[in-house]
Amino acid sequence: MEAAEAILKINNIEVKYHEVILVLKGVSIEVPRGGIVALLGANGAGKSTTLKAISGLLKTEDGEVTDGAIEYEGRHIHHEHASNIARSGIVQVIEGRRVFEHLTVEENLKVGAHLRKTGSVREGLDLVYHYFPRLREKRNETAGLVSGGEQQMTVVGRALMTEPKLVLLDEPSMGLAPKLIHEIFRIITQLHREQHISILLVEQNAKLALNVAPHAYVMETGRIVMDDSSEKLMQNEDIKDFYLGLTDKGGKKSFRDVKHYKRRKRWLA
Ligand SMILES: Nc1ncnc2c1ncn2[C@@H]1O[C@H](COP(=O)(O)OP(=O)(O)OP(=O)(O)O)[C@@H](O)[C@H]1O
Ligand SMILES: [Mg+2]
Repeated sequence: MEAAEAILKINNIEVKYHEVILVLKGVSIEVPRGGIVALLGANGAGKSTTLKAISGLLKTEDGEVTDGAIEYEGRHIHHEHASNIARSGIVQVIEGRRVFEHLTVEENLKVGAHLRKTGSVREGLDLVYHYFPRLREKRNETAGLVSGGEQQMTVVGRALMTEPKLVLLDEPSMGLAPKLIHEIFRIITQLHREQHISILLVEQNAKLALNVAPHAYVMETGRIVMDDSSEKLMQNEDIKDFYLGLTDKGGKKSFRDVKHYKRRKRWLA
C-alpha cells in the first residue's frame, strides 16, 4: 500500500486454535489512519479470525498469534489482553449482531460507554442518535425484539460509544434487506468521514465493500491472495466472474449458480 501513515499493520501473522489448528498462514494487512480497508473472502477463509487476532478476542476461543506481529499506533498488541486493546481505541463489531436481548436499545448502547475517555455518556448517546435517528425512536424497546437492521445499528452504535479510533466490522450486511444495508452503509461512511474513524471491513457483499473501501484484500484459506485498489479489483476478471457474478466466462452460468456462489461465499473455488 502507498505511503499513507498506517494506524494498523498486520505483519505476516500465523494463528492457531488449540495449539494445533493452523488457520492464518502468513497474513499481512495495513489500514491507513482514517482509511477504510475491505477484507473479502469465502466461508472459513479466516476473516473473522483476523479481526479477533487484532481485538484480542482470539484468546477467549483458545486461539493464539504464533508468528508475525500486529502493530497498532506503533505498538505491538498481539500478546495484549482484549481489555487493554479495547481501551487503546480498537473495537470489534462481531458477526451476527449480538445484542443483549433483554436490555433496551439504550441500555445496550450504555454498555459501550465504560470505555469512554473524554465525553459523557449523554454526549455519546446524542452522537449515536444523531447518526442513527431510528435508535432514538426505539431507545426504550427491548433490543431482542427490534428488527434485524435496528439490532445491527445498535451494535454499531454500541461500538461508537467507546470513542473508537479503529472499528473492526464483521459482515454488517449479513441477512439484511438491501434497503437497510444501504442505510447502514451510508451511515458508516458518514461516520468514517465526519468522525475520522479508521475501519477494517469484512464483507461477503463484495460489490458493496468495493464501493465503500478504496482498497481491499482478498483472503483464501488463511492467506491473502490479492491486494489492490478497489477500482482495479472491480476490473479483475476473477473477481467479476466469481465474486461479483458479472460475466458468464467459462460457460453458461445460470442465475442459480451465481446465487449459489453468493450463498456459500465461495471464493475462486
Ligand atoms: N474457535 C475455533 N476453534 C477451532 N477452529 C476455529 C475456531 N474458529 C474458527 N475456526 C476455524 O478457522 C477457520 C476460519 O474461520 P473464520 O471464522 O475466521 O472464517 P471466516 O472467513 O470469518 O468465515 P465466514 O465467512 O463463514 O464468517 C475455519 O476453518 C474455522 O472452522
Ligand atoms: Mg466470519
